[in-house]
Amino acid sequence: MEKIKKIAVMTSGGDAPGMNAAIRSVVRTCAYYDLECMGIYRGYQGLIEGDLVPLTARSVNNIIHKGGTILKSARSKDFRTKEGRQKAFESLQKHQVEALVVIGGDGSFTGGVIFNEEHNFPVIGIPGTIDNDIYGTSHTIGYDTALNTAVSAIDKIRDTASSHNRLFFVEVMGRDAGFIALNAGVGAGAEEILIPEEDLGLERMLESLRKSRRSGKSSSIVVVSEGDKTGKNVFELADYVEENLPEYEVRVSVLGHMQRGGSPSCFDRVLASRLGVSAVELLLDGKTNLMVGLRDNKVVTTSLKKAIKGQHNIDTELLRVSDIMTT
Ligand code: F6P
Repeated sequence: MEKIKKIAVMTSGGDAPGMNAAIRSVVRTCAYYDLECMGIYRGYQGLIEGDLVPLTARSVNNIIHKGGTILKSARSKDFRTKEGRQKAFESLQKHQVEALVVIGGDGSFTGGVIFNEEHNFPVIGIPGTIDNDIYGTSHTIGYDTALNTAVSAIDKIRDTASSHNRLFFVEVMGRDAGFIALNAGVGAGAEEILIPEEDLGLERMLESLRKSRRSGKSSSIVVVSEGDKTGKNVFELADYVEENLPEYEVRVSVLGHMQRGGSPSCFDRVLASRLGVSAVELLLDGKTNLMVGLRDNKVVTTSLKKAIKGQHNIDTELLRVSDIMTT
């Protein structure tokens, strides 16, 4: 098999801090091995529209510390169609690109797998999402930063909560996964943590809040994952508690997209740098349809299909830790 000479890199789906560090790593690894590299703007949509530019080692100066993605990102509807994927393939052919690195989450990897099956085109995935919901890696790029952002926001909420003796419900992101809620909840000392993976029921939450009042606590934080399964959104939860526990004055704070922004943590920068090197080296070795990830602090690979289908399980031991900490 002939060695590939040109690859393209894109960021796709929800942006995540550290995506720029991953782009930088891919581009510089290409330069190191004398490979040409192109950047695709706006993910699969940009690829369909032929929005590609050559990237050299110098194109990625001064981006390692920046949040967002210099290549922009999108969730492409057109790429879900065969015609869209055909156009994307033609764009790559036009620029003599021989392999693709996709930095994104499971939706982006699903697109990559279908594209590979239809066009026999080499694809390597780098997990980049704040949700940490990808099988085959202990950490996705952006998760650590988002956690720290959430914790620092909750710390600030705690100041005002305690000044007014209030109970705050804080909603964090994570789509259907509770990684951010559980870890930020423990890290910020939440009274209760509601995650989609473990619906402990509303009565338990009320009981825990009663207990906390009886034990002398005058303010509390409940961290709620946006995908939690109580059947009530965060505002309804607040109303429910006010109705059932009139002794509490309740407020709600939805952290929202601020969790996706900001300068990446050192952990995310190092992770992104390591995974970018590995992605390019795998392509040079003739490998495809793999995702690079981290396990026991080693860079490992998982088939893209498995990464999409597998379940990254949450560590429910942390719920027990949280329980003990609320004594
Ligand atoms: O997947 C990342 C994420 O931020 C999720 O946590 C959240 O549910 C979703 O994206 C929000 O998507 P959008 O930015 O398209 O509203």
